[in-house]
Amino acid sequence: MEIKTVTIFGTRPEAIKMAPVVKALQESENIENKILVTAQHREMLDQVLRLFQLKPDFDLDIMKHKQSLTHIMAKALEGIEKVLTEVTPDLVLVHGDTSTTLAGALAAYYQKIPVGHVEAGLRTYDKYQPFPEELNRHLTGVIADLHFAPTGKAKNFLLNEGVDEGSIFVTGNTVIDALLYTANIDYTFEDPVLKEFDFDRGPVMLLTAHRRENWGQPLEDICYAVKELVENNSDLRVIYPVHLNPRVREVVFSILGGHNRILLIEPLDYLPFVHLMKSVDIVLTDSGGIQEEAPSLNKPVLVLRNVTERPEAVEAGTVKVVGTDREKIYNEVSCLLNNKDEYNKIALAKNPFGDGKAAGRIVKIIEDYFRKS
Ligand code: UD1
Ligand code: UDP
Repeated sequence: MEIKTVTIFGTRPEAIKMAPVVKALQESENIENKILVTAQHREMLDQVLRLFQLKPDFDLDIMKHKQSLTHIMAKALEGIEKVLTEVTPDLVLVHGDTSTTLAGALAAYYQKIPVGHVEAGLRTYDKYQPFPEELNRHLTGVIADLHFAPTGKAKNFLLNEGVDEGSIFVTGNTVIDALLYTANIDYTFEDPVLKEFDFDRGPVMLLTAHRRENWGQPLEDICYAVKELVENNSDLRVIYPVHLNPRVREVVFSILGGHNRILLIEPLDYLPFVHLMKSVDIVLTDSGGIQEEAPSLNKPVLVLRNVTERPEAVEAGTVKVVGTDREKIYNEVSCLLNNKDEYNKIALAKNPFGDGKAAGRIVKIIEDYFRKS
């Protein structure tokens, strides 16, 4: 049995979460996999490819400065079509909720190629939060033939939408596979600033924020809340690896730049970033992946969104949704800084996203699917 697959991804988080799947596909004797990257991200994608030693068979190199959603979709669709026509795979695998994800699924559908959706079934049911990820994920789910749901809750969302139960598989989230692999690599910071940074000298908060629905006023409010926290807590230090998106950087550098206890640094490669998460005390983020990862490292996470498509994290108590209101952010961070019991309650709650073996399960399901058909 020789199954031909194409894995499609384009951004940093997709690459991190697909890397374990690609590795597991490569280990299978029954599967020949080709890697297609849209390069919707460039530098932020390439660092993941290097860490996991992934060599794309096809690289569409579509990224443009300040690109629009239409640009990504149009370029990705066109490029993916050509590759799928050449390779004629038995299955296309996409991950999550980006523009690359939807383009990959749609391009495969146009050629009547079955689609496997990794990290299927996350929902807020608010089509503008997260934007455009909620609809990207939903539409990809409508196209997909195999749904790899990270949790039982994600499976239930799909069942409620009428998806055939036989096509849904609860696998855990592959981000935990990637995280455990990376966290176990022995590492000391090479970056001169982080190398010298004394993590034991008072509380350190890691901040990341980049989401489209937070551009403008919400991101400004986040920055002002952080500035006020640092000004009113003389031992608090903040590290913010700032996303390469110019729309994010303009706001962040103008409000938080120049403060000696706020370290604005370039996006970190995944290996140093994981080790940074291990070293800090609090994580404040609007990222999807970080909400899933930080709890496995016993770090409390405050989520800078009004709703999360990861309600299992809230129920498990590993994250708290704080939105983007300045006062609310200020109060919730202050609570973690001053209340050890509250801190431990979140930090030590059990992560619901998996056991680090999701990728192997996904590959076995793919083999079974083709054995039966
Ligand atoms: C994208 C995804 C989002 C995901 C995020 C992860 C969509 C619509 N959005 O958002 O779901 O959470 O990636 O980070 O798919 N840039 C660079 N170099 C890079 C990466 C980005 O310069 O390596 C700059 C470019 O100017 C680019 C801009 O950032 O135009 C925005 O990139 P884009 O992929 O459109 O949006 P993200 O906000 O990164
Ligand atoms: N990440 C990284 N370097 C950074 C910031 C984040 O490697 O400087 C990793 C993080 O550990 C997680 C992923 O990137 O695995 C999340 O990406 P992002 O926040 O850009 O996207 P989202 O998860 O919100 O889609």
